[in-house]
Amino acid sequence: MAKRSLNSKVRDGLLKAARKAMKNAYAPYSKFKVGAAVLTTKGDVFLGCNVENASYGVTNCAERTAIFSAVAQSGPGIEIEAIAIANDHNAPCAPCGACRQVIYEFGPRATVFFRGAQGLKQRPIADLLPDGFRLK
Ligand code: THU
Repeated sequence: MAKRSLNSKVRDGLLKAARKAMKNAYAPYSKFKVGAAVLTTKGDVFLGCNVENASYGVTNCAERTAIFSAVAQSGPGIEIEAIAIANDHNAPCAPCGACRQVIYEFGPRATVFFRGAQGLKQRPIADLLPDGFRLK
């Protein structure tokens, strides 16, 4: 019971933080604002949003912005416990392949919360990125 209620509290708090982060998105090209909130195993939360560019491929997704911010602020030893993603269209929005690889780098046991076709989904990163690549 304790673990279940803790999990839903953590989930709701992270989703709320992701929606807040979404408001800072720079998405003039896609008009699709995304926010992400990372919870580290230390209990810190870091936010990120998508930052687009006129050279479209340079765009940074919300998830990677949040993770890079966590590393920039807390150092390279962070471990991701969970990450939540929100968007301003209430559309299905699972992390892209590049972001899955970055989540896995800093949280091979991380839980990912995102909107799927049928509503909120909770999946371990290892399910979203089977046989993920690691050097260490
Ligand atoms: N985007 C994210 O930030 N995260 C996702 O999980 C999916 C896509 C962004 C990239 C781009 O700025 C916009 O959403 C449309 O693809």
